[in-house]
Amino acid sequence: MAAIRFENKWVLITGASSGLGYEMALQLAFSHKANLILVARRAEKLQELKETIESKSASKVKTITADLSNLDDIDRVIKISLEDDNLFGAILNAGITYFGSHMELKWNDFEMMLQTNVTGMVRMTTGLTEYFERTQHPGGIMIVSSMAAVLPTPYQAAYSGTKGFMLNFITALSHEITNKNFSYTVYLPGGMQTEMTNNDKFSPLKSWLMPVKQAAAEGINAFRKRKATYVPGMTNKLGAIMSGIIPKGIIIRGMAKTYGNALKK
Ligand SMILES: NC(=O)c1ccc[n+]([C@@H]2O[C@H](COP(=O)([O-])OP(=O)(O)OC[C@H]3O[C@@H](n4cnc5c(N)ncnc54)[C@H](OP(=O)(O)O)[C@@H]3O)[C@@H](O)[C@H]2O)c1
Repeated sequence: MAAIRFENKWVLITGASSGLGYEMALQLAFSHKANLILVARRAEKLQELKETIESKSASKVKTITADLSNLDDIDRVIKISLEDDNLFGAILNAGITYFGSHMELKWNDFEMMLQTNVTGMVRMTTGLTEYFERTQHPGGIMIVSSMAAVLPTPYQAAYSGTKGFMLNFITALSHEITNKNFSYTVYLPGGMQTEMTNNDKFSPLKSWLMPVKQAAAEGINAFRKRKATYVPGMTNKLGAIMSGIIPKGIIIRGMAKTYGNALKK
C-alpha cells in the first residue's frame, strides 16, 4: 500500500485542544498541508488553534466541540465528519489518565476514563470504519494508545487496561477489513511533556518525558507509512524490545518502585 500523502486531505483529530493532538494538528497543517477537523470539549482552545492555522497556512479547519465520553456527541462528530464524503483520515487521540494508587481511584473517574478511552474510541472507530468499508475510499485511522499497553504500568493500572484494549482491539480488527487502501496504526508513545503530565505527581519523572513536538512528528510519520504499531524514541523502543527478552515481571517491578517513589515525593 502506498504511503499516505496528507496534502489537501481532510483529517479528523480528537483531543486537539492540547498536548499531542494540538501539536499533530500544527504539524499536519504546516508540514503536510492537510485540512483538519478538530475535536475536543474546550471550544475556545479549538478556535484559537483554527485561527493560528488558517492565518499562517492554506489549510482549512473545522472545529467540533464534543465530549467524547458521551455517545450522542460521538455520533454527531461522526455525522459531521462524513457529511461531505471527503474524510481521508482520523487520529483518535483524546484520552485521560489517573496516576495514583488504584484503590484511591473514584468509581466515577474510572467510568469516565473507560467511556473516553475505550467506549468512545470503539464507537468512533466503528462509525468511521463502516464508512471506509462501504465506500472503499482510501485512508487510514491512527489510534493513540501508549507504551502502557505493552508494559502494564503500576499506579496507572486502569489506564494501562484501557490502552491495552486499544492495541488488541485495533490489531484484531485490522484483519477483518476488506478495504485494500485503508490502514490502522496504533501509536504507542511513552511519557510525553503535555498537560496530562504537567502536575506535581509526574514532576519527579519529568526528565523521562519526550518533547511533544518529537512525539507528534514520529506519530505522523508512522501514520504516513501505515505502520501497524509504532513506538517512538530510542529509550521506549529499547523498553519494548527488553520486555520481549527480560521477564516482564522484573521490568514491571522496577517500574512499580520508580512510580511509587515518584508519588511519595
Ligand atoms: N502524556 C503522556 O505521557 C502520554 C503517554 C502515552 C500516551 N498518551 C496518550 O496521548 C493522548 C493525548 O494525551 P496528551 O498527553 O496530549 O494529554 P492532554 O494534553 O491532556 O490532551 C488530552 C486531549 O484529550 C481531550 N479530551 C480528554 N477527554 C475528552 C473528552 N471527554 N471529550 C473530548 N476530548 C477529550 C482534551 O481536550 P478537552 O479537555 O478540551 O476536552 C485534550 O485535547 C492520550 O490518549 C493519552 O492517553 C499520553
